Amino acid sequence: MQEKIIDYLKKKQGYISGDQIAQRLGISRQALWKHIQELKDIGYEIIAVPHLGYRLISIPDRLFPFEVERDLGTEFVGRKIYYFEGISSTMDMAMQLGMKGCPEGALVLAENQTKGRGRLGRSWFSPKHKGLYLSLILKPKTLASGVSMLTLLAAVSVSEAVEEITGLDMQIKWPNDLFIGHKKAGGILTELVASADQVNFVVIGIGLNVNNDKKTLVAGATSLKEQKKEQISRLRLLQEILRRIEKNYSLLQKKGAASIAEKWRQKNITLGRRVKVWCQREHIEGQATDIDTDGGLLIRKDSGILQKVMSGDVMHCR
Ligand code: BTN
Repeated sequence: MQEKIIDYLKKKQGYISGDQIAQRLGISRQALWKHIQELKDIGYEIIAVPHLGYRLISIPDRLFPFEVERDLGTEFVGRKIYYFEGISSTMDMAMQLGMKGCPEGALVLAENQTKGRGRLGRSWFSPKHKGLYLSLILKPKTLASGVSMLTLLAAVSVSEAVEEITGLDMQIKWPNDLFIGHKKAGGILTELVASADQVNFVVIGIGLNVNNDKKTLVAGATSLKEQKKEQISRLRLLQEILRRIEKNYSLLQKKGAASIAEKWRQKNITLGRRVKVWCQREHIEGQATDIDTDGGLLIRKDSGILQKVMSGDVMHCR
């Protein structure tokens, strides 16, 4: 009911009488008043003036599912949302939901994480209401070896969405670090449950620094707000990310991995550079020449040998 009230107030500009709203939504004036109080409690600014009625002044900077779903326009990505004001990690919750057989495209969304995690055992600082912290469950018909391409797909999708909403140029450092200028603004973490011959489900975790000020950023990181010098709508950005993921996912299924690899190449800052990659207990150094159709990074070592790495920590040397 609250979402219907907000929809109605948004549609009508100016004051609307309580009688009119109540009648339209088929509830009593008393019930309407109660719902309005609850909406105010969660941050909607609504004023009530005797003889004039109610008026919506502003909506809070929150990612309420009914706001995300409104005008989203996707077929399945983000069609089922699990929303948390606070959570340990959206990855853990998404893993549990995946195990229980939730539908493909289900989204776990949090306003803050106490144990957000990144790649290679690192933590992901997730201050409340500042960034986007989400995990998306996908069920691709692929072997586990094809999943790396989904990580690249997510990075491309976020980068496209950021450009669309803010005009900022977001670049990708292999495999999934999201950079603006020379600073990291976001990252992707992919986890999966698979057997030898099939992937049961994949969880794509996305963390993005959106409206962080200096004091809510870790050293060396940046946020979209810091770059753009203005507050960014997390809601619009999230919706665009979900739309882009669905579009690119369908492109991947119809046209294959090469189509995503090509988009990734346009956005990357790794290829053509000398890199040092730490993977397991060794490090590989050489020229990053290309990515393979499975998302692996091809490195031409000084010996001339071409070596592929599937994961690791990359340092750009020069
Ligand atoms: C990285 O750059 O190392 C990846 C960071 C991924 C962070 C996101 S935030 C939402 C989701 N939940 C987590 O605990 N991690 C991912």
